[in-house]
Amino acid sequence: MLEFNWKNADSAIVGKEHGLDIQKEFETNKDKIAEIVSGIYRDRNKTGKWLAWMNLGYKEDTVKEINDYAESVKGEFDNLLILGIGGSALGGIAVTEALLKPYWNLLDKEARNNFPRIFFLDNIDPDQIQGLLNLLDLKKTLVNVITKSGSTAETMSAFMIVKELLEKQLGSEYKKNIVATTDKETGILRQISQQEGYKSFVVPDDVGGRFSVFSSVGLLPFALVGINIFELLKGVSDMDKELQNTDVNKNIAAQNALLNYLMDKKGKNISVMMPYSSRLRFVSDWYVQLWAESLGKEKDLNGNTVNAGPTPVKALGATDQHSQIQLYNEGPNDKLITFIRVKEFDTKLEIPQVFEYTGIGYLCGKTVNDLMNAEAESTKVALADYSRPTVTLTLPEVNEYYLAQLLYMLEVQTAIAGGLYNIDTFNQPGVEQAKNYTYALMGRKGYEQSAKELNEKMNV
Ligand code: PA5
Repeated sequence: MLEFNWKNADSAIVGKEHGLDIQKEFETNKDKIAEIVSGIYRDRNKTGKWLAWMNLGYKEDTVKEINDYAESVKGEFDNLLILGIGGSALGGIAVTEALLKPYWNLLDKEARNNFPRIFFLDNIDPDQIQGLLNLLDLKKTLVNVITKSGSTAETMSAFMIVKELLEKQLGSEYKKNIVATTDKETGILRQISQQEGYKSFVVPDDVGGRFSVFSSVGLLPFALVGINIFELLKGVSDMDKELQNTDVNKNIAAQNALLNYLMDKKGKNISVMMPYSSRLRFVSDWYVQLWAESLGKEKDLNGNTVNAGPTPVKALGATDQHSQIQLYNEGPNDKLITFIRVKEFDTKLEIPQVFEYTGIGYLCGKTVNDLMNAEAESTKVALADYSRPTVTLTLPEVNEYYLAQLLYMLEVQTAIAGGLYNIDTFNQPGVEQAKNYTYALMGRKGYEQSAKELNEKMNV
């Protein structure tokens, strides 16, 4: 199982002033935590609570349907192009980067076991879009357009560009190269899919974008590139069973939510996610969205203005030891750093005996694995010397099962943290505001008044 260690956030190590007496905090907050955990598990099936993502680990039918489709198109396409943004892309990027062989897109077909290369367009940079389209043979590309709402401007703009090109090249046959993932009935993409006859999958109700990685949003691309989605779901459901425990001493999601919350209250309102694994580096991007969009809220559930939310920051070990760590050790003591460690890398890589200079000779005969572990350990201890709290999440190895445990645990942790802050974890009014202004600026019907107000504000 995924392991969690909070000892370096404890006052015994980092000093009373900056740390917490964590065992005491668990005791003080145990009833509150039990209430929150039993609350989310009680409400997981209730419509409108946006907790349906907690049931995704048990959706065997959906997984089978997705897997069957993926098998039916295996070998047909050289490329898989994902169009989506935010929650419709970040989980996909995090999981494929972690689980596919490194430099996947540079491998030949045989090394990819006949599965396609994968590309994500999750921005609307014209140079990037054009650059990628110049590169891809669209006839051999399966395009998965993912948008729950079915109308997100960035995703749908890219989709219209790609659709036109595909149709030019393939005529009416172009439809075979498109698969849509969207809401089951509402939204323009659902309408288009029905009219045009695209193959489509459903984003389940009550699953928000940032909690959708284990729905068809993530599972379809994963299956298409050969990731074992049954194993992913097993990781989710096993972790889910662990996290139903209402005892804070036995629930790592509750422990980390509480720790993050209490640290924030002590002025450590920056949450750094620092995996010591390049394969896990995009887990931090996914986490940043999850934490920021879920917990950054103006009002609490009673309508009070709270402007809640710690600021998530991404870092990468060991790379960022040569940049951010200086600030983390000696700058403001306002961070809780979460290390993600990997016990066993797939590869053991020895450093050969090539030089005998004293300055580097000590490395020879050791492994890069030893070096990575030494770097993580020494950074943790150095941070503790400076009274900087850290916690560590450890994966036995990077595979479907443990990665799913990590991501699901962080989702539940976020829901519990939302309970502690007493905010609505699942809405995003701040995101909607900017989306609406964009619609207004781009001349969408129904947004005329917003456009007028916006123009006045922009001219100030
Ligand atoms: O988490 C969220 O809700 C957002 O990040 C959405 O995923 C993002 O805005 C994209 O929305 P949609 O899937 O409707 O295109």
